[in-house]
Amino acid sequence: MSMTVLVAGATGRFGGICGLLLERGHRVRALTREPTSPAGQQLRERGAEVVYGDFDDADTLVAAMAGADGVFATGTLHRAGPDRELRHGRNLAEAARASRLPHLVYVSGAGAGERTGVPVFEVKAEVERHLRALDVAHTIVAPVYLMENLFNPWNTAALQADKLPSYLPAHRRLQQVPVIDVISFAALVLERPERFAGQRLEIASDELTAEEMADIVSRITGHPRLVEEIPPDNLGPGLSALFEWLDRTGHHVDIEGLRREYPEVGWHSFGEWAGGAFTPPAG
Ligand SMILES: NC(=O)c1ccc[n+]([C@@H]2O[C@H](COP(=O)([O-])OP(=O)(O)OC[C@H]3O[C@@H](n4cnc5c(N)ncnc54)[C@H](OP(=O)(O)O)[C@@H]3O)[C@@H](O)[C@H]2O)c1
Repeated sequence: MSMTVLVAGATGRFGGICGLLLERGHRVRALTREPTSPAGQQLRERGAEVVYGDFDDADTLVAAMAGADGVFATGTLHRAGPDRELRHGRNLAEAARASRLPHLVYVSGAGAGERTGVPVFEVKAEVERHLRALDVAHTIVAPVYLMENLFNPWNTAALQADKLPSYLPAHRRLQQVPVIDVISFAALVLERPERFAGQRLEIASDELTAEEMADIVSRITGHPRLVEEIPPDNLGPGLSALFEWLDRTGHHVDIEGLRREYPEVGWHSFGEWAGGAFTPPAG
């Protein structure tokens, strides 16, 4: 059945869900603080209705949610920092309650469901608590480490030097997932509120070491690439605490179980994702 979905964060890293929902026959209302920006224009050209909204202003979220069957939203950690991510999450929850929203799909983070002491998870846990406390009909989609993090700006120098940067020991396995699998899973959840609402689902699509990643990327690009281990302290206290936890404890998502239960997501291995992200040798 066709739905009207408000995508909050339509210009962000999970904004590709707009195109996916449109392809699946849904109406998309794309939320941005700058509806006339090039990104807003692109969304309009693809068939989305583009509306103004700011996570700092709950009233704009209430207005944008009017008549929506579902909302897809993510945190704003990287653009806004942890304190504002928390405020944004609270505003979102309050707007959802005020609008009597039928279903919110919120992208949190795997690890936020446990007591980890890792600040980036604690903020997300607080947003999740707020959603439950306000009794908002919602599903938490909690991805592990994103494969796209390999292209974070602080990795550029190592990548350009044909290295595979790693903030964990080269032999430590790391569960990962690409954005495409997160949005594909979220689209499924939006379409089946009766099946998913009330659940918290941690998702991952592959698990491998930096050494294995380096071998895969070497094969794709035709250039041998060694792992460069980088101390996570270089990334500041927040990310450093995250990598310490990933090394010490790490995620334990049942990847095989997810693949069995939700084959329609079309899960990608790291190799499949990297095949599209790295350029093969010419000729
Ligand atoms: N990296 C990982 O491994 C990983 C894993 C799991 C989860 N996550 C989480 O995924 C989430 C999304 O990623 P991100 O932080 O990079 O966010 P993002 O997707 O870059 O940005 C979120 C969107 O929020 C919109 N927005 C609206 N009002 C805003 C406001 N007042 N301030 C800032 N943005 C506002 C922005 O749109 P406009 O600018 O158009 O208004 C932007 O498109 C984060 O919470 C992150 O922690 C990441």
